[in-house]
Parts: sequence; C-alpha cells; structure tokens
Amino acid sequence: MHRHHTLAFALLLATVPEAAALETTPLTALDLTKMRQGWGTPQVDRAVTGKPLSIGGHPFETGVGTHARSVLWVDLDGKSGRFQAFVGVDDATGSDDASIRFRVIADGTTLFDSETMHRGQKAQQVDVPLSGQKSLLLLVTDAGDGVSFDHADWADARFVMAEGKPAAVAVPDDPEVILTPKPGPAPRLNGPRVYGCRPGNPFVYRIPTTGERPLRFSAVRLPEGLRLDEQSGIVTGVAPARGEYAVTLRARNAHGQDEQPFLIKSGDTLALTPTMGWNHWYAHYNRITDAMMREAADIMVSSGMADVGYQYVSIDDCWMNAPKYEDPLRVGPLRDDQGRILPNKHFPDMRALTDYIHAYGLKAGIYTSPGPYTCAGFSGTYQHEAQDAATFAEWGFDLLKYDWCSYGNVATGEGRERLTRPYQLMGDILRRQPRDIVLNLCQYGMGDVWEWGAEVGGQSWRTAGDLGFELNRVFEVARKNAEHREWNRPGAWNDPDYIQIGFVGNARGMGEPTPCPITPSEQYAYMSLWCLMAAPLFYSGDMSRLDEFTLNVLCNPEMIAVNQDPLGQCGRVIETGDETFLMVKDLADGSLAIGLFNQGEFPMKVTADWESLGLPTGRQVRDLWRQQDLGKFETGYTVEVPRRGGAVIRVGKP
Ligand code: GLA
Repeated sequence: MHRHHTLAFALLLATVPEAAALETTPLTALDLTKMRQGWGTPQVDRAVTGKPLSIGGHPFETGVGTHARSVLWVDLDGKSGRFQAFVGVDDATGSDDASIRFRVIADGTTLFDSETMHRGQKAQQVDVPLSGQKSLLLLVTDAGDGVSFDHADWADARFVMAEGKPAAVAVPDDPEVILTPKPGPAPRLNGPRVYGCRPGNPFVYRIPTTGERPLRFSAVRLPEGLRLDEQSGIVTGVAPARGEYAVTLRARNAHGQDEQPFLIKSGDTLALTPTMGWNHWYAHYNRITDAMMREAADIMVSSGMADVGYQYVSIDDCWMNAPKYEDPLRVGPLRDDQGRILPNKHFPDMRALTDYIHAYGLKAGIYTSPGPYTCAGFSGTYQHEAQDAATFAEWGFDLLKYDWCSYGNVATGEGRERLTRPYQLMGDILRRQPRDIVLNLCQYGMGDVWEWGAEVGGQSWRTAGDLGFELNRVFEVARKNAEHREWNRPGAWNDPDYIQIGFVGNARGMGEPTPCPITPSEQYAYMSLWCLMAAPLFYSGDMSRLDEFTLNVLCNPEMIAVNQDPLGQCGRVIETGDETFLMVKDLADGSLAIGLFNQGEFPMKVTADWESLGLPTGRQVRDLWRQQDLGKFETGYTVEVPRRGGAVIRVGKP
C-alpha cells in the first residue's frame, strides 16, 4: 500500500469512536462470488484484467478489481464502523472512453458518490461512517455511456468495525410472480399478421393459436398451391406466385371462434416480422444431440410455445465433426470424398430430423461459420459455401446462422469489404436455393453490420458479442442495440442475442443448465425490451426444464404481438432519470407500446408523460403483462417499477 494512503487511514481511524478493539475486514475477504459485474469476474488484489491494481498512475497492492456495472450487497447486521477505499478507473483499461461512477449506499441512502471518473484520474478516497445500517451496496455504474472499458477498482477497500463482521450477500431476489393470465378455452389466433415467402418454394406454417383442443381451422382466400389441415392448423404446399394475398384465418371450438387477417407476401423479402424460435446454444452447448433437438420440437408444441408464435427449432454449433474433441462421437472426417459436410455421430440423419420438425408445422435452423472452423472448433464452411448451402437446403433447413469464427485468418480485402464479403457470398447463394432459408449474421456487430446486413442478404444480424457471458448486461445490451433502431424494419432485424431465462448453462465453460442468475423482475424486463425492440425472439434455455414462471414470461401473446407488429419498428429510448427510461414503440394500429424501466438497485417510480411523448391528454392504458385495462389517464401514467425491472403498457385512443 502507498505510504500516504496508510497515513490517511491512520488519521481516519482515529475518528472512529473508541470502543472495543477495531477489527479490519478487507473487502477481498468477503465472498466475491456474490458480486455481479458486467464483464469478467471479480479479482482479488488485481484489476479485472488480472494486472496489478493501478489508479491514476498509483499502484495499489490490495483491493478488488471489477467492471461496471458492478453490484455487491453487504450485510452489516446493524453494526457500526466505517467503510474505506480508494476508487477509480484502472489504468490498464484499453481506452480513454472508460468512464465510471462509484457509489456507496447504505439502507438506500447514498453515503458516497464519485460522480463520473475517467482513466488517468487520481483515485478518490472513500471514508464513510456506518452507523447501524443493515445493508450496504457497493455500486459501480457506467456513468451513462455504456460499460465498454469500464474497469473499476475498489482499492485498499476495507470495513473497520468494532463488532460484527460484514458479509457479502446475494442481490435481493424478488418473488416469481406470474403476471400473465392463462389462455382462455376459446380460440385466439396469435402470430404475425403478415408473412413473407419466395414464389415456388416449399411452404410450411403452423398457425399459432391458443384455446382448448380440438380446434377447427379454416382459411378464406388461401392462395392456390397452399392447403390448410383443418385439425392441426398447419399450412403446407408451395408458395404462390409473386404477389400479395389477403387471407383470413379462422379457428373455432366448443367455446367460440376467432378470426384474423393474414397477409401473405410472396416476393423477395423473408422474415417480415422478427424470427421466433428456440436455439440450443445457451442450454446444451457441445452436448447437443438429435434426440435433444426432437425433444425441443416436441416441447415447443406441448408447452404452448408454438401456440403463441415460436417456430424455428435451431441447432447451433457442434453438430459437425471436429479434427479432435473431448467427445469421440464428435470426431471424424469433416467432409466425405465429394467434399460434402458430415454431421457427427450425434446427428445420424439430418433429413429425418428436419422432417420431424416440419411434421409439427415448425421450421428448422442450422449453424456454420464462413471460416475453416466454427467457434467451438468444428468444421466450418470456408471454400464449400455453395456446396454447404445446397446440403442445408436438401436436408430441409429453413434458417442459417452464419458466424465469423476463424474467418479472420483467411479473410482478404480491406476495411468493410473484408467484413461483408463472406455474408454477401452466402446471401447470394441462399437466395438461389429452392427453399426459403433465413440468414442470421453472427459477427458481433463488426463494421456497423446494421448498415449493410440486409443489403448482403441477411434478415437479422447480431449487434454485439455473446450476451451469454454477461447476463447482467441485459439493459445495457438492449439500449446499445436500440441505438441502431433506424435500421430495423420488416425483413431486417437487429439481433441482441437470445432470451436466456429458465435453465441456462453459464456461457463461460459451456456449463450444464442451472436456474438463470437474473431476478424475476429482470426476466420480465428482458422479454419486454426484446419485444419493444422488435428483436428476433429465440429462447435459448433448457426446454425440458421449462417451468410455469418461465413460460409465463415467454408466452404472453399481447407482448409477442408488440414484437411481431407489422410496422417492425424498434422502440426509442427516452431517458427519464438517472437509472430510469422509457422505450416507446409505434404500432401499426396507431397505438403505442411503452416500456417503463428501472435499471437501478432500488424500486423507482417511472412516469410516461403524455405531453412529452406528443400525446393529447386522456389516454386509455392497458397493462400488457397482466393483460388488463387500467382505464383512462389524463396526463400520463406512473408506476413503481421494481429494482432492475420493467412494466409495459399499450396506450391507445382517448
Ligand atoms: C459464437 C456465437 C454464439 C454461438 C457460438 C458457437 O460465440 O456468437 O452465438 O453460436 O459461437 O460456438
């Protein structure tokens, strides 16, 4: 420790009222697995990078290196004393953009606030008296500009107490309150109101419908070439000639009937509403098998997910062979003697697998990388692009997730061209296949992909790295994704990655599925944000362990209607406070969906004020999670939002 710091502490300690012997507990002695942070893991006596702690050019021997957004709750058990530390941006951060705000909050009262700190700035000293509070929160936020490079140090951090020991505790959880009412027995037609396909290609569509079975389906003005199975509600056949077909879908049962318009646009644009489905990655990683894929399809139907619009059952990485791998069943020749890609032994018959999925009226997705190898080290598609696309089409796949991994080693060209080339190539090839194959670009947002993803033939593109590593960045990732909102439109979707709730496996180390680490409120907020952004909605958790709460978050048809709204607008963020904001999305019928969010650690009131949203007074408000009309609100709507939570309303006519 630095000399002058030692001296400073000595002087400060002298001000603690003399009682029993004072005991110092360094922050590093607490259970730091309880700390949640936006990147990496908490480091003892090191910065988050693993390098020695250093702030403003001054090294510190002890302390905790973390990363915004960082949250640690400490139970003080009502014991008095002091909390002391030196805080600042760690010098090893990679950018001058780093800006961080440290706060120490006891029982809801802020005892220390660093305001915004930058790289190179001298450490600020924290020395706050603790006078019998129950809990202390050590909070590091991004100071409003995103968490990139926000390496934060709590250097020489310690509790000095006369009695009792501070203990790190888990972030406060909230109860799993089920907000969404169960679907009623009468039929309700869900799913998109508009659907894109390419003329002459195979067509399969399961009409998402809730209500007691048996149901009887019918369709008015279904174009020639398509047939509807009136019991299952599955439409199959061949996509009609180029043009628009205004179909009316109907479903009835003993309890009533429903009718909805369904516009089929046969032309060049697929995914006229965000793609919805399930992807295996965050649940099963390199454990995925044919049997698990089939089971996922079974459960997509039996759980009711297909009834609200989930359609694609997608395999991610690890279905091919690798040159070497821990699981011998995934090792083998990458291609046959014709150069055709070979699935590994966990996938004995790809065509049989997609037939199985299609028999439910669902669609099948597959994954590869433009490089020689995928991210997990399996065979990639490099120099076999046309051949692989033809194979995927022959196997019956309807979606391709195209990564970037290992392509960097073989990429040629300069600047943006280097980035667009593999996707342009695959986009062109897919367009020529005799089936509709949606293309999802997975290159983490490089080269402002939102500006050119649609141009090269993609229907969606990841806007950032894997959300799976840092689940407590849900708000931040969403807000970043929404910055590219102007590029979002029917057939062209910004993709902030999958919905990881229920049982998911920690992405670090490809873990076995365990209950996801975010609170129920945060799960509601997660789904709300994805719906308001019109983001692709892929669940990526363990289908075999879906519980009632998870299904209630995933399957609210009124929320999903916001996601699938034909305008295809990504909501705009309107700041309403330090840690609160609205996300406002225009809907095709002239109403608005408004999310009221609280990123903070304490419940907060959030207001949607009609005037500042340009709305006349006296609006009808509906709570979408509860599916409840709340009545008419004159000047705005205010709701108390739980910590890290959100509410969503639909604001309609007067
Ligand atoms: C990348 C992608 C993930 C997943 C893995 C598979 O990390 O971003 O979504 O597909 O590859 O290895």
